[in-house]
Amino acid sequence: MVSHRKQTVRDVDVKDKRVLVRVDFNVPIQDGDVADDTRIRAALPTIRYLLDRGAKIILMSHLGRPTPEDREQFKMDPVARRLEELLGRPVRKVNAVVGPEVEEAVAHMAPGDVLLLENTRFEPGEKKNDPELARRLAALADIYVNDAFGSAHRAHASTAGVKQVRPDLPAVAGFLMERELEMLGRVLGSPQRPFVVVLGGAKIADKIGVLRRLLQTADTILIGGGMANTFLKAQGLEVGRSLVDEEALDLARRFLEQAGDKIVLPVDAVVADRFAPDAEAQVVAVERVPPEGMILDIGPRTVQNFADVLSSARTVFWNGPMGVFEFPRFAEGTFAIARVLAGLEGAVTVVGGGDSAAAVRQAGLADRMTHVSTGGGASLEFLEGKELPGVAVLDDGSA
Ligand code: 3PG
Repeated sequence: MVSHRKQTVRDVDVKDKRVLVRVDFNVPIQDGDVADDTRIRAALPTIRYLLDRGAKIILMSHLGRPTPEDREQFKMDPVARRLEELLGRPVRKVNAVVGPEVEEAVAHMAPGDVLLLENTRFEPGEKKNDPELARRLAALADIYVNDAFGSAHRAHASTAGVKQVRPDLPAVAGFLMERELEMLGRVLGSPQRPFVVVLGGAKIADKIGVLRRLLQTADTILIGGGMANTFLKAQGLEVGRSLVDEEALDLARRFLEQAGDKIVLPVDAVVADRFAPDAEAQVVAVERVPPEGMILDIGPRTVQNFADVLSSARTVFWNGPMGVFEFPRFAEGTFAIARVLAGLEGAVTVVGGGDSAAAVRQAGLADRMTHVSTGGGASLEFLEGKELPGVAVLDDGSA
C-alpha cells in the first residue's frame, strides 16, 4: 500500500491476465541507443513481479516530444532492445500504439510474454487525453498498472485516460510509483527536522510553486544554480552577464521578504568570461561579479556555508544543480553538494529527478542517497502539493 493508500500490483491477481503497464521509458537516446537506462531499470521490479506471476505484460510509454515530421528518432526500438538485455528475455515491440497490429499481437500473447507498444505520443490523442484513444488502450487490458511516476503529472490518455473511460478496470500502482509516493510523501508530509531544501537549476519559473510550498515547511532553503542570480539581483547586486529571469525579480524580492533568513544565497561564485566548457574561470565574491562575467557555479565559501547548514539536517530535498555541471570546470559546486548529502549520517536525503539526479549519478553517489526520484516535473508538482492525475485515477486501498 502506498502512503496515499493506493492499491498496488500486490493487491491484484495477475495470473493469465493482460496487464497494461504505463511505464516512463522517456530516456535519452544517442546514436540510436539508450544513453541512460536508469528509468528502464527502475521499472524492472514491477515487470519481473508480473512475469513471475504469469501475467501477459503490455508496456507503454512516451519517448521525447515528437512532432509528426521527426518521428523516426523517437521510436521505441532502442528501448525495446535495452529492456530485452536487462530482462534477459524477448521483448516484442510493435510499430503502433493501437490498431490491428497491436490487437493481433495481444491476442497471441502467452503468460510471461512482454510486449512494448510504440511511442504513445505518436497518437495525437495521447496528450489531449482523447477518450477514444483511451478506450482503445483500455480494450487491450484486464488490469491497468501505472508505474510511470515521472509522467504522473500529465493527464494524458495513457496516464489517466485509460481508467477514466473504464472505471471498472482495476487500476493499481507499480513498485516504482509506490516508492516514489512514499519517499516524496515523507518530504511533503512530516519531515524530520531540521528540514533543509537545496534548490538550483536555471529558472525560477519552474520552481515557483514548490518554493512557495516549501517556504512553509522547510527550516532552511539553500539556493544555488542559475536561479540564485535572480535572487542576488533582486537584492540589488550586479551579476554581469549571468542568466537572470528579469520577470521574476519582483517575485524573488517578495520571497526574500517573506522568508526572512530562511533563504540562504551564495556568497561567492565561479565566474566565466563566456558560456563554454573552456571559458576562463575565476572565483569572486557575489558583490564583485565583473560586468562581463557570467556566474556558472557556486564558489567554495558558499559550498562551505551550505555544508554547515546541511550537517545538522535530518531531512534534505534537493532539486536542481548548483551550476553548469555539464562543463567540468563548473561542476564542483554541484558535485560538492552531492558529496555532502552522501556523507550525512541518519538523514533522509531525497533528490528530485532531472538534472540533479543525473549529477548525483555522474558523481557515482546515487546509491548513497535515501531516494533519487525518476520524476523531474512530477516530483516538483507532487511537492507543490498538487494531486497528480496519474495517481488520482488509481484505485484506493483500504486504510
Ligand atoms: C519527464 O521526463 O519529466 C517525463 O517523462 C515527462 O515528460 P514530458 O515533460 O515530455 O511530459
